[in-house]
Amino acid sequence: MGYFKVKNSILNGNVRISGAKNSALPILAATILSSEKLEIENVPDLLDVQTMIEILRKIGKEVIFENNKVTLNGTVENHVVPYDLVRKMRASFNVAGPLAVILGESKVSLPGGCAIGVRPVDYHIMGLKKLGFEVEIAHGEVYIKKGKKEKEVIINLPFPSVGATEHLMTTAALMEGITVIENAAMEPEIVDLQNFLNSLGAKIQGAGSRKIVIEGVKSLNGRSYKVMPDRIEAGTYAIAIAATGGKGYIEEIIPEHLEILWEILKETGTNVTIEKNRVFVDGKGKKRGININIQPYPGFPTDLQPQILVYLSLADGVSMVVENVFKNRFHHIDELVRMGADIRVVDGTAIVNGVKKLSGTKVEGTDLRATAALIIAGLVAEGTTEVHNDFHVLRGYENIVEKIRHLNGEIEHIV
Ligand code: EPU
Repeated sequence: MGYFKVKNSILNGNVRISGAKNSALPILAATILSSEKLEIENVPDLLDVQTMIEILRKIGKEVIFENNKVTLNGTVENHVVPYDLVRKMRASFNVAGPLAVILGESKVSLPGGCAIGVRPVDYHIMGLKKLGFEVEIAHGEVYIKKGKKEKEVIINLPFPSVGATEHLMTTAALMEGITVIENAAMEPEIVDLQNFLNSLGAKIQGAGSRKIVIEGVKSLNGRSYKVMPDRIEAGTYAIAIAATGGKGYIEEIIPEHLEILWEILKETGTNVTIEKNRVFVDGKGKKRGININIQPYPGFPTDLQPQILVYLSLADGVSMVVENVFKNRFHHIDELVRMGADIRVVDGTAIVNGVKKLSGTKVEGTDLRATAALIIAGLVAEGTTEVHNDFHVLRGYENIVEKIRHLNGEIEHIV
């Protein structure tokens, strides 16, 4: 396993943001529904994307991935997705419904636990049952068999789960009658998935609100589609530039997707200038602490919680960050404390007492965003930091070393 060697740096310059991982994954899973030629553009070259492509190949799709474009042909033929692929990435579970729609059945391993806490799939299963599927869980696998769907089905999610909303919306696209998802997640990635499916002939409306209505169609066509920019990658670089006291443009993004981040950065003392599809961040000067509530969209994203904690570690005063999406997503804090941060966790709230400096040491990433946060901590810390478990970051940040170097950051990937 490799690691990143990061030195104290000030990030300056412009960074171009890649296509969104969390859009590309459900869009790729949804390609199961069409047997025509599809071209998906602006797909980031990441480990998670490679895993999804491996799954699609395993179940019978012909897939070519070149220059950020995925070209798909053919129909799915195999209904089994083995554990070694689901184990690598939870989003793999989202092929279960679409696969059973096409083949009448599917067998997908249950995703295991992960470092950001317990992540069950009970809402997915509840929704699939409402859609008429028989669901059996045994030996760590979920077996799904198509049954009879009622003409109008209402699925009310207990929590606006991103994955369950995407999975059920995709599954229902080719099922007769109307499906309504209530208390749906409103993340921009869900709007992107709706736009993709509708571009193939699906009839879905309401994505981006709490209620999504799907009118089943008989089949989907082929065409090409461009994945939206990655708002979490954009937010990560904006926080990194601001935390190091540097300045620069975050380019080729949709600024409205991160309104809450721009507000938090401004309120804490970073200058932010929003333009049409780029944002200028200037982190010169002192920062102030602030309280943040991590919530589903349009709230502050859990996927930027570890990164903003690094930024707040060096801000004046006390900050409180309440995690309401993944209650245990705090493993990065132990490592930040080893670097000199003063953070305590009490009942799902991180209480940060701003310190004057962090100092470099060896640290270990526990998940994708936690590892990205430790790289930011390495950039702001005195001396050199070794961030171990490099593979987490390679799951979700395209060309991270090149992008940070382009911003004048000192980082080396040791493999
Ligand atoms: N939940 C359940 N039961 C379910 C589904 C979810 O209890 O059946 C709970 C989860 O345990 C969690 C909450 O609901 O407490 C929200 O989970 P959600 O389903 O929204 O998360 P997800 O779909 O598994 C996606 C992203 C995550 C991101 C979350 C929240 C993808 C591929 N993953 O996960 O991204 O943190 O939404 O926004 O889209 C990342 O990119 O690093 C990442 C972890």
